[in-house]
Amino acid sequence: MFCSDVPSSTAVEDAREDAMDITITAFPEEELAAIAKWRSDGEVHRYLRHGYTTLGEVSTWYRDYFSTEANCLLGILVDNQLIGYCTIEHIDHENHKCEVGIVIGEKDYWYKGIGSAVIRELLKRAFTALHLHRVEAVIHADNVVSIHCFARAGFQCDGTLRDAKYRDGRYVDLLVYSLLDSEWIE
Ligand SMILES: CC(C)(COP(=O)(O)OP(=O)(O)OC[C@H]1O[C@@H](n2cnc3c(N)ncnc32)[C@H](O)[C@@H]1OP(=O)(O)O)[C@@H](O)C(=O)NCCC(=O)NCCS
Repeated sequence: MFCSDVPSSTAVEDAREDAMDITITAFPEEELAAIAKWRSDGEVHRYLRHGYTTLGEVSTWYRDYFSTEANCLLGILVDNQLIGYCTIEHIDHENHKCEVGIVIGEKDYWYKGIGSAVIRELLKRAFTALHLHRVEAVIHADNVVSIHCFARAGFQCDGTLRDAKYRDGRYVDLLVYSLLDSEWIE
């Protein structure tokens, strides 16, 4: 079972009192320009691993990388508005693992619990629909908010990839976080 076999659109449970209507769905191809716009914003892009920022680069990424069954691009909708995207990547049924990522491109939606809610939904898909054993997240060592979100979801730090990223004239560490199915609390 791969990307195309998981539910195409799911409502994400938001436990907060002022709960929003959060949905994860297949990313609409006609909205790729939104990804280019978000990734061109230095604050959004600061901790992302790849450099793609133009519509051409994002379209190629979509066509070449996310057309494979092992990599899945999903849109994040809040009250029916597209505010970001998330990914399930490197789905590996031999070793029962995958990697996840989240980008909330509309900064007005940061720090409202959406990222944490999306992590919970990605874990549900990985462990129940895809039947995987291990979910990984590779996080820029300076990305304290992302580290906090994944740690709060139960992820543990497996280790540091020292100087693994060269960005803006300096090397930065990447941290590998993971959660196993046996550690997952739904
Ligand atoms: C990282 C990102 C996905 C987080 O999503 P979000 O919806 O803003 O996160 P949440 O609101 O669910 O949680 C934010 C948490 O960080 C905490 N936080 C905020 N500022 C913080 C800081 N400076 N240091 C540590 N924690 C901080 C908040 O208190 C909250 O934790 P809590 O729920 O325990 O109180 C989002 O900010 C984003 O898309 N950033 C740009 C792209 C990016 O860096 N993606 C991650 C790539 S791995």
